[in-house]
Amino acid sequence: MNPIRPLLRSAVFSRAAAGSTFRHVARRTLVTPTSPAQAKVSEVSVEQRVREDPGEFEEGHHVSGETAEGEEMFGFKLNPVATKTGGQAKSQGRPIYLDMQATTPMDPRVLDKMLPYLTEQYGNPHSRTHAYGWEAESGVDEARKHVATLVGANEKDIVFTSGATESNNMIIKGIAKFHQTKRRHLITTQTEHKCVLDSCRYLSTQGFEVTYLPVLPNGLISIDDLKAALRPDTSLVSIMAVNNEIGVIQPLKEISDTLKAWAKETKNPKPYFHTDAAQAVGKIPIDVEAMGIDAMSISGHKIYGPKGVGAAYVRRRPRVRLEPLIHGGGQERGLRSGTVPAPLVVGLGEACRIAFKEMELDHARIKSLSDRLINGINSQVEHIVRNGDPNGYPGCVNLSFAYVEGESLLMALKDIALSSGSACTSASLEPSYVLRALGAAEDMAHSSLRFGIGRFTTEAEIDLVVERIVSVVTRLRDMSPLWEMVQEGIDISKIEWSQH
Ligand SMILES: Cc1ncc(COP(=O)(O)O)c(C=O)c1O
Repeated sequence: MNPIRPLLRSAVFSRAAAGSTFRHVARRTLVTPTSPAQAKVSEVSVEQRVREDPGEFEEGHHVSGETAEGEEMFGFKLNPVATKTGGQAKSQGRPIYLDMQATTPMDPRVLDKMLPYLTEQYGNPHSRTHAYGWEAESGVDEARKHVATLVGANEKDIVFTSGATESNNMIIKGIAKFHQTKRRHLITTQTEHKCVLDSCRYLSTQGFEVTYLPVLPNGLISIDDLKAALRPDTSLVSIMAVNNEIGVIQPLKEISDTLKAWAKETKNPKPYFHTDAAQAVGKIPIDVEAMGIDAMSISGHKIYGPKGVGAAYVRRRPRVRLEPLIHGGGQERGLRSGTVPAPLVVGLGEACRIAFKEMELDHARIKSLSDRLINGINSQVEHIVRNGDPNGYPGCVNLSFAYVEGESLLMALKDIALSSGSACTSASLEPSYVLRALGAAEDMAHSSLRFGIGRFTTEAEIDLVVERIVSVVTRLRDMSPLWEMVQEGIDISKIEWSQH
């Protein structure tokens, strides 16, 4: 007799003997099962937004009634949220959040959709032998459809990743490596996100050549520069869709048309066209077919989804060939091995579903808040420069304040959560490389602020921000000797400063 059998039997017996107590303990859940009524786990008052702007919101998808002070949720004490009338602007003690390019708050509808996959539906989506696996797989399949629908793709072309950083690495390095014997040249721009620039820099150390296209003073690339940079051995052109610091929207269709025309004319293979669309997907219409995009990077936490999840669009027809960076179980078409994190992916899918449905409404609201911010500041403070093309994404407003010292400006605005330059580079006080690429003067790059407006930003918040900016800039300028000279009519650009 197998010596292990009695042990097994006694284990089974003791479970059964434990009876109802055992079952009770095993079934206890830390998080109560989800229901639409629980979609209120947020500091951000969706209820407030719905009341202000009922628009297209689905009835019953949101909570009604505010979260009272100290109310408990899932065993945690919640901080008091925005009051009924004041929105977040009156939230107690927390800065107003205007840093939507760094990350967005998760939409409560997304959390609501994720919760069952964090509690009861915990199966591995790759388990084929039981219902736990099937239900997780079906959640992942549905999410894949939502992501694909949002960007006009075939769902089979969507690969789930941990975010846009991973997607960018996977696509750029993967394509370069696959084609390394014959095509060792890549083209990108000087204003890409660090994860694109650093992937390219890594490839340079491996013997690849990279052309970094400059940008025009408004942040757009020149199509002529692109044409001039193309070579018979160019395997990839990677140009971002929306810039994370200045909101500039690159002409994606024109870029892909240029690549096709060049390939036809020169009889060279068409370089693949990749776009980092972390700041674009869900915010402006993106259609991979209509725009001729071969590969694209998507991030969950920029579109009110969870952090730690994203996607790569990798076209299958005609096929984009790339070498996988991660090896293992062969999940995600073998391009990204590892168990697909069903709860996160379901969250990303829901974020995409909502974005597809509400993009127009979001865009219109954000545009109106953006105009309100710019006009509010401009009408009361002079010598402000808007960095980047004014027709860019309205939720990203980058302003430079002349005659104001950048660090003092940030220090004085502690009650507003915003960035100077990109979130990733603002830890150092170096002026942003993106603003420098536009040709912005060093001092103007230093005194720039990025205002990131999003789905849950309210008019009350914008008004409060305008009030604070006007008062802080006026106060700092009053202390500035340079500003005094400007007021006296001295052209300080003509001053010859003595060197000591
Ligand atoms: C344009 C752009 N690309 C890539 C990323 C990285 O995204 P993730 O945080 O999903 O890795 C960001 C985030 O800041 C971004 O703004």
